[in-house]
Amino acid sequence: MSPSPNNTEITIIQPDDWHIHLRDGDALQTTVPHAADSFNRLICMPNLVPPVKTTEQAIGYRERIMQALQNSNISDDRKQSFDPRMVLYLTDNTKPEDIINAKKSGVVQAVKLYPAGATTNSADGVTDIKNCVQVIDEMQKQGIPLLVHGEVTHSHVDIFDREKKFLDEVLSPLIQQFPELKVVCEHITTADAAEFVLAQSNNVAATITPQHLLFNRNHMLVGGIKPHFYCLPILKRQTHQKTLIEVATSGSPKFFLGTDSAPHATHAKENACGCAGCYSASIALPLYASAFDAVGKIDKLEGFASLFGPKFYGLPVNESHITLVKTPMQVPNSYDYFDNSTITPLMAGEHLDWTIKAS
Ligand code: NCD
Ligand code: ZN
Repeated sequence: MSPSPNNTEITIIQPDDWHIHLRDGDALQTTVPHAADSFNRLICMPNLVPPVKTTEQAIGYRERIMQALQNSNISDDRKQSFDPRMVLYLTDNTKPEDIINAKKSGVVQAVKLYPAGATTNSADGVTDIKNCVQVIDEMQKQGIPLLVHGEVTHSHVDIFDREKKFLDEVLSPLIQQFPELKVVCEHITTADAAEFVLAQSNNVAATITPQHLLFNRNHMLVGGIKPHFYCLPILKRQTHQKTLIEVATSGSPKFFLGTDSAPHATHAKENACGCAGCYSASIALPLYASAFDAVGKIDKLEGFASLFGPKFYGLPVNESHITLVKTPMQVPNSYDYFDNSTITPLMAGEHLDWTIKAS
């Protein structure tokens, strides 16, 4: 990493996004170039309708993503570096053979556990982890990581307590049963989750989103309810935000970049029953840079964004670089999306301190 002497410019190894939602069909025309502008590898979440449950479906989805890339006006260099990695959606009916096929494919990088009903398009998710023991055993054998949406879904558990309850009741026993299983706690939102990850072996890591570093529930709820801050797991209180910033900027390789950029059309967010998800792909690096710089830790951005993810996944680090400059940028109010709709990004219309330097 090469920061300028007064930290107003920083060149880092090209980052990867270890948790992103690109959606499918015409949505890819917007989401793919936004992601490919900043990131080489992507962990593409499988919660499509219907979900990506088999290796064949994952291969087909990857082809549609690559087609959208070819149709975009992204530079040839960026096109060549772009490498979406696919994920299978775990269900009660996933079989050990599905894991063996996934490993053989070289295209499927991981398997995602959504507790049924936990978030957007999770109705087909796992109803009881006991149904998946043989599959998880095969994943441990094959070295395929389990990516976890860590929230319980019981109606009697308060939405702000769902992450901690999941760690105590589901993940902790699972890790004891499968100590060699690689696990990523996706989009962690609480100090409890950060401490949990720190207490585990190197097989357990976590992604952290820009919104959970920059915001807390006051931003979403004080002075009027702000649907563009609504995502799952939901923003928590400020003390949790503070711990997430500490661990993300600590240099611990257990915490790495995963935007959870999750597009929903503006009208579906600004709605009496608004969808969960923040859209950040196009501005994710300036968002993370602002969060790291705000605590004087811009020098820790490269590890978080570009080194620790590949290390966990056993992949080489990227060869290209990207430069960020401390020049204010205005986040667009919206982007065009398919069917004449728009998407409103996180911090739409506001200023960020950092911007990506044009190459
Ligand atoms: C995601 C989505 O819209 O697909 N939404 C979100 O609030 N994060 C699903 C998810 O990652 O939980
Ligand atoms: Zn997600």
